Amino acid sequence: MSRIVMGIESSCDETGVGLVRLHDDGTVELIADEVASSLEQHIRFGGVVPEIASRAHLEAMVPTVERALRTAELTLSNVDAIAVTAGPGLAGALLVGVSAAKAYAAALGIPLYGVNHLAGHIAVDTLQHGPLPKPCLALLVSGGHTQLLRVDDIASSITELGSTVDDAAGEAYDKVARLLSLPYPGGPPIDKAAAEGNPTAIAFPRGMTGPRDAKFDFSFSGLKTSVARWMENAERRGDQISINDVAASFQEAVADVLTAKAIRAAKEFDIKTLVISGGVAANSRLSTLARERCADAGITLRVPRPRLCTDNGAMIAAVGAHVVAAGRPASTLDISANPALPVSVISV
Ligand code: KG4
Ligand code: ZN
Repeated sequence: MSRIVMGIESSCDETGVGLVRLHDDGTVELIADEVASSLEQHIRFGGVVPEIASRAHLEAMVPTVERALRTAELTLSNVDAIAVTAGPGLAGALLVGVSAAKAYAAALGIPLYGVNHLAGHIAVDTLQHGPLPKPCLALLVSGGHTQLLRVDDIASSITELGSTVDDAAGEAYDKVARLLSLPYPGGPPIDKAAAEGNPTAIAFPRGMTGPRDAKFDFSFSGLKTSVARWMENAERRGDQISINDVAASFQEAVADVLTAKAIRAAKEFDIKTLVISGGVAANSRLSTLARERCADAGITLRVPRPRLCTDNGAMIAAVGAHVVAAGRPASTLDISANPALPVSVISV
């Protein structure tokens, strides 16, 4: 007897509702994935405004649940369990999802699972590529997070090997885009400009790669400053600036560090599978370089399709389904949102 798990995501600017079917053999099948984004409302501020995001979640929550059910041709009475992002994320935004999930669980008399957003970014890959080998390595790169994780069991054991000590990779893209007068969010326009530029034109620094630096941590704020200084100097000299070359050289520095550290961790822990997820996983240079370096090292690379890489409800339904399948206890109805939930806590 298969079970339907509904996932609710509201940690940032996307209201996501996903539905998955958990089969008896433990495989998880995607059946609906609806997202309402408030991104448009944040663009003129150059970043996500928490109050606007919370208000947008409130307005979008019920319509998005209804859309997901319609897509799956199901009704609420078919749902067997509710999973919701308990953290990390924006406090007010998380609260909207957690409150909605509690209300659905209580009204339907079904179990509630508060789950970790970061685990969702990894679990989502099982919807496309099937069960994750144990262990596997995950490189999570988004606007809010940059982490290298060892995943021994997606339902019960994730260990952080390293993370960014300052800006997230996506945040670096967004800040550098601003320096280059490209629109927000900066990833896609930089990716596009870089395709026309020379990645070896400017030797930007590779952060945290010195012999005394933490092996698996990242730093991108020095790189951003270095791009700013380079632009200032070029302008002062009156040089013709090629935005394409700056974009390509910046992008090369980011992709180089991310892939080098991931491969190093895979070798050190003898892990044969790397999953790259999060919004920045859509970056063309990152995926090309990861593919090359993984092939050289004999590592299998898994990257979920872009739609699954960015925030969505299906990823939360997926981690919920794995937690249900593992027989982990459900959450109580008095759980609260935790903006700083550590990645090691997969369900609360
Ligand atoms: O995962 P995501 O949609 O949202 C969260 O931050 O949780 O990631 C958004 C980030 C933004 O910083 C955006 O600039 C970046 O992902 N991004 C990219 C690309 N597409 C989106 N960065 C580099 N290259 C891209 N093609
Ligand atoms: Zn995310």
